[in-house]
Amino acid sequence: MEPKQPQNQAERHLLDKPLDRKRLLVDFDPADYGLAPLALELLLPGRPTPADLYLPFYDRHQRRVIMEHACQQGEEFRSLWRDRLLTANQRLVYVKLDQVPRLQDYFGRFAPALVEDEDRPVKERARVIQELALFNLNVFFASDDPSPQAVRTLVGQVQQSVNRLTADPQVLTRLSGLLRTDYSLYTHSVNVAMLLMALARYLGYNDATTHAFGVGGMLHDVGRSRLPRGLIGKTGPLDEAERAQVRQHPILGHQMLAQLGAVPHDAMMIVLHHHENADGSGYPHGLKADRTPTPARLCRLVDAFDAMTSQRPYQDARSAYEAAATMLQESTSAFGKDLVPTFIRFLGSPFVAESE
Ligand SMILES: [Fe+2]
Ligand SMILES: [Fe+2]
Repeated sequence: MEPKQPQNQAERHLLDKPLDRKRLLVDFDPADYGLAPLALELLLPGRPTPADLYLPFYDRHQRRVIMEHACQQGEEFRSLWRDRLLTANQRLVYVKLDQVPRLQDYFGRFAPALVEDEDRPVKERARVIQELALFNLNVFFASDDPSPQAVRTLVGQVQQSVNRLTADPQVLTRLSGLLRTDYSLYTHSVNVAMLLMALARYLGYNDATTHAFGVGGMLHDVGRSRLPRGLIGKTGPLDEAERAQVRQHPILGHQMLAQLGAVPHDAMMIVLHHHENADGSGYPHGLKADRTPTPARLCRLVDAFDAMTSQRPYQDARSAYEAAATMLQESTSAFGKDLVPTFIRFLGSPFVAESE
C-alpha cells in the first residue's frame, strides 16, 4: 500500500490544522505502507525536516488507516506542529523507508547535540537514545533485507546506542521511569538491553561486559526477523506449528550475527541461549543451568520480567512486585534459584527503583 502523495496545498499543511485525537488512535502496521514510525523527540523544531512526514487517519467508510502526507521534506518543522501532535496524543510521525538514509544523515549531524548536552535532563537524553535505537530496529525489521550488509549496519547502530547509554553513568539509573510498557518487539528489545546493562553494573561487571550485555540484549530476538511476517511481532497465543517456528529464532539470530564476526562473545551467547531453562526444558539446546552461559541466564530473567510487566493484547501488565513473585515461584524450573534473589534485589536498587 503506497502512502498518499500530497495533492493540494491544504494537504501539505496538515500540521497547521488542529488534529482530532480520536481519529489518530488506531492500531496498524506501518511497514504495510512502506513506512517506519519516528518519535517526535528525534525531530528538531526550527530545522528543516529530513524527510516527508506522514500521519495516520482512520477512514470510517473504507474501514482502514490512510496515511496522509503531512509535511514535505525540507519544510521547517515548527514547534506549533509538535505541540499539536502531542496534544492529540500523537507521539509518532511516519517516514518512508526509502528516505531513511536522509534521516540517518540528519541524526548523524544532530543526535550528538541532543544526547550529549549535559544541560538537558538525563531522562530526556536517555529518551532520545532509546527512540533512536527503536527507530533503527524498526527500520531493520520493516526493510526485510537479510543481507550481511544490512545486519552489519544494524549491529553498528546497536553498538552506537549502547555506547551512548554507557557514556553517562546517570543514564542507566532509575530505569523504572524509562522502560516502555507499550509492548512491541522493538520496545521489548530496548528494555531488555537497558535492564541487562544496569544489571551488569549492579553485579560489578566491567565496561566491556556491560557493553556486550547491551548489544546482546538489543539483538537477542533479532532472529525473529527471519520468521514469516505475521509471526514476527505476534503477541497473541500461538498454535503448535507457530510455536515450533518461533523456537527457531535463537539459532537464526546466532547465524545472522556469526557471519559478521564482530559481535562480542557474551552477546552471541545471549542471542543463542536466552531461552534455555535451568532444569533443561528450554531451547534451542536444552541446557541446564550449570551448562548455560551466565549472560544468557541473566537475559532469560530480564526477558521474562519485561514480558510480564508490559501491556500485551492478551495480557495485562503486571507490577514489578507481581512479576518478582512469579519469578520466585518459577525459579527452580526456569531461572535456577541461585539468580532470582539477586535479581529481585536489583529491582529494588537505585538502578531500577524510582526513589532512592
Ligand atoms: Fe527470544
Ligand atoms: Fe525476548
